[in-house]
Amino acid sequence: MRKKIIAGNWKMNKTLSESLELVNVLKDSCNTTDSEVVFCVPDINLKAVKDALEGTNIFVGAQNMHFEESGAFTGETSVLMLKDLGVKHVILGHSERRQYFSETCESVNKKTLKALEHGLTPIVCVGESLEDRQQNVTLELISMQVKRALNGVSDSDIEKVVIAYEPIWAIGTGVTATTDQAEEVCENIRKTLKSLYGDNAEKVRIQYGGSVNADNAKELFSKNNIDGGLVGGASLKADFAGIVNYK
Ligand code: PGA
Repeated sequence: MRKKIIAGNWKMNKTLSESLELVNVLKDSCNTTDSEVVFCVPDINLKAVKDALEGTNIFVGAQNMHFEESGAFTGETSVLMLKDLGVKHVILGHSERRQYFSETCESVNKKTLKALEHGLTPIVCVGESLEDRQQNVTLELISMQVKRALNGVSDSDIEKVVIAYEPIWAIGTGVTATTDQAEEVCENIRKTLKSLYGDNAEKVRIQYGGSVNADNAKELFSKNNIDGGLVGGASLKADFAGIVNYK
């Protein structure tokens, strides 16, 4: 039985004081061991949010990191910095990073390998555009993104990876993929993982992301191959507790 993982992606939202306010609103209502709950906050607030979550079961996660451990990379954050703060999760290859910051499958792959090397859980995002969906290339494209992101990930490490399927057309738009659309792609991701890792594919958690809210979470998370969610907008509100407690 795979443990559900429900992660809030705060994106570039919340100042320090606003972050602490939100943590106060959410920390009791989201404190559970039924699912793995992660707040992925801007780097600058990681330490403060981590401290504020002390004593709960909620993890803090980062939204990106560099694939090198240190060096002349102005403005970047390394895995060693995250690890030293006690961060255990990092979102990699979010479609916004691919679209606005030139993230490629190759850099996502390097980052995934680096995160695993240091014991972090990479939440690797994949997803198709509306155009891709209309052209009927979704399954093929997602399968290719998964293979590229995981190039070189060992049989023993694969179970530590989380894949987040996020159709780009459903992110921040209020349009959610239907549960059947989401499950179809997540099932196909599982197939791709099976072709690469055999039975170990069953241990990999696959999230759905894209306009998840407290009303649709239960139905989405009840699907065979959907092991939780990556949540943007709704993670910034008290509503997030309704997603965490979706049952
Ligand atoms: P959304 O964002 O829930 O606001 O659609 C999801 C994401 O980008 O991870």
